[in-house]
Amino acid sequence: MKTIESFIRDIHDFPKPGIVFKDLTPLLNNPEATNLCLQQLLTPLAHQRIDKVVGMEARGFFFGTLLAQKLNAGFIPVRKPGKLPYNTISETYALEYGSDTLEIHADAIQPGDRVLIHDDVLATGGTAEAVCKLVEKLGGAIVQCNFIMELEFLNGKDRLNKYSIASIIKY
Ligand code: PRP
Repeated sequence: MKTIESFIRDIHDFPKPGIVFKDLTPLLNNPEATNLCLQQLLTPLAHQRIDKVVGMEARGFFFGTLLAQKLNAGFIPVRKPGKLPYNTISETYALEYGSDTLEIHADAIQPGDRVLIHDDVLATGGTAEAVCKLVEKLGGAIVQCNFIMELEFLNGKDRLNKYSIASIIKY
């Protein structure tokens, strides 16, 4: 059996020159590798009750929904502005140049819900930090933030030091 890492391919200069993009589509295209990745994300959550899994647009949706099914939890998408149809709350966070905003449905989480946050990559941590704030504004209790990949040299973990973090592959 090949490793999970071997199903992630480097795309140089995407989306901009100088960036090496970690493409997980070969992993998604292989059911055994997808299942192995799912099991590794689930392992640290054994014996934890999770009520909701929150996944970030867009690549957090893939394993977010799979995790929610396995954990018998609801899945909640966090999306870029104007994409969610019902009442939302939003969180704006700073980027190197400018800012970004994320939204969640205002009724998606009940106070006290135990929440898993999932995304494909932890880079600077800005996205995950904003999602943690959205979940907490709605009264959710964050059990863990998990990622397939963590770009350790960007120190995203520092912004999430209040939370339990898990990632399968560290670069
Ligand atoms: C990527 C990635 C994470 C985020 C991580 O998403 O999928 O969501 O960046 O970066 P950060 O830790 O520095 O915040 P992207 O913004 O490319 O959106 P997309 O998945 O919709 O393409």
